[in-house]
Amino acid sequence: MGQRYEAFHRRSIGDREGFWAEQAKLIDWHKPFGQVLDYSRPPFARWFIGGQTNLCHNAIDRHLATQAEKPALIYVSTETGEERVYTFAELQREVVTMAAILGSQGVGRGDRVLIYMPMVPQAVFAMLACARIGAIHSVVFGGFASNSLAARIDDATPKVIVSADAGSRGGKAIAYKPLLDEAIRLASHNPARVLMVNRGLAPMDVVAGRDLDYETLRAKYRDADVPVVWLESNEISYTLYTSGTTGQPKGVQRDVGGYAVALAASMRHIFCGNAGETYFSTSDIGWVVGHSYIVYAPLIAGMATILYEGTPIRPDAGILWQLVEKYQVSLMFSAPTAIRVLKKQDPALLTKYDTSSLRSLFLAGEPLDEPTARWITEGLGRPVIDNYWQTESGWPILGLANGVEQMSTKLGSPGVPMYGYDLHLLHEQTGEEVGANEKGVVAIMPPLPPGCMQTVWGDDERFVETYFTTIPGKMAYSTFDWGIRDDDGYYFILGRTDDVINVAGHRLGTREIEESVSHHASVAECAVIGVADSLKGQVAMAFVVLKDAAAAADPAEAARLEREILAVVDRQLGAVARPVRAHFVTALPKTRSGKVLRRAIQAVCEHRDPGDLTTIEDVAALDGVRKAVVGSDG
Ligand code: PRX
Repeated sequence: MGQRYEAFHRRSIGDREGFWAEQAKLIDWHKPFGQVLDYSRPPFARWFIGGQTNLCHNAIDRHLATQAEKPALIYVSTETGEERVYTFAELQREVVTMAAILGSQGVGRGDRVLIYMPMVPQAVFAMLACARIGAIHSVVFGGFASNSLAARIDDATPKVIVSADAGSRGGKAIAYKPLLDEAIRLASHNPARVLMVNRGLAPMDVVAGRDLDYETLRAKYRDADVPVVWLESNEISYTLYTSGTTGQPKGVQRDVGGYAVALAASMRHIFCGNAGETYFSTSDIGWVVGHSYIVYAPLIAGMATILYEGTPIRPDAGILWQLVEKYQVSLMFSAPTAIRVLKKQDPALLTKYDTSSLRSLFLAGEPLDEPTARWITEGLGRPVIDNYWQTESGWPILGLANGVEQMSTKLGSPGVPMYGYDLHLLHEQTGEEVGANEKGVVAIMPPLPPGCMQTVWGDDERFVETYFTTIPGKMAYSTFDWGIRDDDGYYFILGRTDDVINVAGHRLGTREIEESVSHHASVAECAVIGVADSLKGQVAMAFVVLKDAAAAADPAEAARLEREILAVVDRQLGAVARPVRAHFVTALPKTRSGKVLRRAIQAVCEHRDPGDLTTIEDVAALDGVRKAVVGSDG
């Protein structure tokens, strides 16, 4: 770590208030804040007390004076062939219109709006419209199906849901409306209105009195004027659900001012983006990267942002680089899986286009393996910067602050602790600091910096309980990741400490998948684990004990049951959560106290030594897992 950055980081911890007061100058405040940090109720941190600001104002309105006619949102769909550039002025028009539509349905400050959308500009309009009027948006990833969606509807209790007839993947329409209708039927909460964007991709059943047509209302409110609602810095901007150890997803809740400052600061110090340039993140608006680095951060920085609907290999594996050339992209953000997908394609496509506008490619969301990092760094001839963070943090925890001081990358490491994070590696059992090159839990000493989650939506207790009580003897925020630090202060992430898995950069809770598998009438018990996969990082695999063990004896019947079980997950949670296999076993390996030994199952699946098995109840159960896996490998 360089001296300059070291001092910068030290100050961010030693003089939190001074440091963040300076960063706060990067955004517009309608009314200045009085106090920088209120930490009177640990571990809850409140930033920029009394200050009034607005995310939509900072993302759009404040740029109108200087760059109204410059591109703000660049929409590209290789699925439908649509391509459209919205200037800041045009984006403002659309957002204000959307705000007027939401307002006409009674949505106001503090009301929730659930957004269940494919990658279409209206999804961004809806997010920014909520931000403009102080409504709280809750975007649900379009790859989730009815049961996942229903759980989120019940938790967020939205007044309005914004959705579309369909998404599209690989040229095939995926109808959203039937999933949404089913989710509303399953949920106990009923939204008053459902605003539908009709892309003409799939037929829709319209529910009279509830469903509204976006284009009709857009025409009606085309000239509406909806002023920005100034919000106290600690009001809620959005909730975003993420998976944890339990089956019930957590609504990560964020503020307004802290988030705006954190994103603006990250654009300056970590991403090094400037107004007038173009940012291209290949993520989805349903994930945190989409919130922070498709929508809010680039726009707050006055950059144009690309919203891309499509895969990295269609029409061919040169599409991302073609877009870089066409829109003169300066900064790109993607996930290791996307790069591993490209690695399997014609390497000539990597150099076919002029990518000289690109300064850096940032990758996050899952471990970046060295061969992939090397391949893309050499192929592109540009710095590839791994960075590590979580839905909870909203912006990088580990990375390189090249805007403060040029720092060297280390293959396999997402970098060093970012400013504002008082990061430690703690011993799982003793809570003591571990030494250099020793494995520990990556933990943050509170207060968490601006931009991080305020709490779990509607459940302060769960926030404290989940994140701040697992490390013995200390009130420290656990990331639930294992890490190790080398002598130079660079961290390496070694996987999760809990039951969360990471499939192609998508964070999934195995408990949620287990609950879904158990919905099949023939299932007595099951365990879902993550197994290493060369393309997706991890894939989910299910081990199922049937009520009638004999049912799986006949291979044809077993195959039919497996298909059925996987279809249940598909229907309830979505294809993103579907295990690659459901293996039938007669018993699950458990401890004597009845806890399923997931780590031992995982080790067996990955052909590793399962380690210490002294607590196992029945060794034969693990052999059963081994046989099931070997049988399918062979
Ligand atoms: O396990 C870590 C992994 O992804 C988790 C967070 O996922 P999510 O909440 O979806 O947020 C993603 C934001 C980029 C982490 O707890 N993870 C994220 N980035 C990395 C990573 N693992 C290794 N290296 C990374 N760069």
